[in-house]
Amino acid sequence: MIKTKVMEIEHLKVELRTPARNVPVVKDVSFTLYEGNVLGLIGESGCGKSATCQAIMGLLEKEKWNVKSNILLQGQKIQYSDQERLRRLRGAAMSMIMQNPIGSFNPLITLGEHFMETIRCHKAVSKGEAKQIALDMISKLNLSSPEKIMKQYPFQLSGGMLQRVMIAIALFMCPAVLIADEPTTSLDVTVQYQILGELSHLRDNFKTSMLLVSHDLGIITQMADDVAVMYAGYIIEKASAFEIFENPLHPYTRALLQSKPSFTKNRLKVLEGYPPSLMQIKAGCPFAERCSYAKKDCQKFEMSDYGLGSHTVRCLRYATLEEATTCACS
Ligand SMILES: Nc1ncnc2c1ncn2[C@@H]1O[C@H](COP(=O)(O)OP(=O)(O)O)[C@@H](O)[C@H]1O
Ligand SMILES: [Mg+2]
Repeated sequence: MIKTKVMEIEHLKVELRTPARNVPVVKDVSFTLYEGNVLGLIGESGCGKSATCQAIMGLLEKEKWNVKSNILLQGQKIQYSDQERLRRLRGAAMSMIMQNPIGSFNPLITLGEHFMETIRCHKAVSKGEAKQIALDMISKLNLSSPEKIMKQYPFQLSGGMLQRVMIAIALFMCPAVLIADEPTTSLDVTVQYQILGELSHLRDNFKTSMLLVSHDLGIITQMADDVAVMYAGYIIEKASAFEIFENPLHPYTRALLQSKPSFTKNRLKVLEGYPPSLMQIKAGCPFAERCSYAKKDCQKFEMSDYGLGSHTVRCLRYATLEEATTCACS
């Protein structure tokens, strides 16, 4: 089946500007989002997942960040310097759900005003019509008393309710691309389950492409069609979710999957050590110091194709590691 490309990210680089020098946070990230597919992005804390999401949305301030990218949305290059066009794209063609719902709202204005602002930014409607659209949106969220919620301030809602409001606002225009950065991390399991249900509904009914960032491998297994594994600012492995879980090639991916809890494991295997400091500039594979397969020649650090090319891995030694015949997560 031929999949339709919706967003292509080519060699994204993000640097943090500091008085001494620019510090690279995202060093080389490329991936494609396909129509109606979910790409799961996984990796340890601090590896640059959120910076990647925010760079794609054009949310990183120029004064603090230096972003180099070539990003195509529905075949057209996004011009990040054109703020007006970017503002129109955000919400209509691409939307983002953030990890921390409370931080994503202006504490000084009511939720009704948040809704109205989004609606009137994208649709030429009167205040009355916008209010009616907002009330309809809130009713669909399984939240009681929409009129009351319209008058409330963000701090008056629980984390789960706020996250649902944020999702409703993000999904209002049925964007082609939805970036969900740890969308359920701060929520309890039942609310998490409902939110994942809403995301699946969106994908199935509106063919939305999703970039789903999560450290929860259970969520990734449940939701993702493809998986990209990130380490120290690089994508180090990319494949279908099935391939990643059944035949992980990169030693880091294997270690990450071995840390997934399961009923059949007595003890979880812990990945020793820490990712390299952002300040460290060293040639070669940034995982080498923690890798039990590393040899002196682990200097080469390019993406290689495995199999038919839909499984790529950035490891010089992957082909000589012992066969990953058993699922690393079992
Ligand atoms: N506002 C910021 N100021 C300084 N450093 C930051 C800021 N945001 C992120 N970083 C650094 O950039 C790196 C990547 O962060 P982030 O993208 O948030 O990682 P992840 O989402 O994978 O946990 C981290 O080392 C983090 O400390
Ligand atoms: Mg993050």
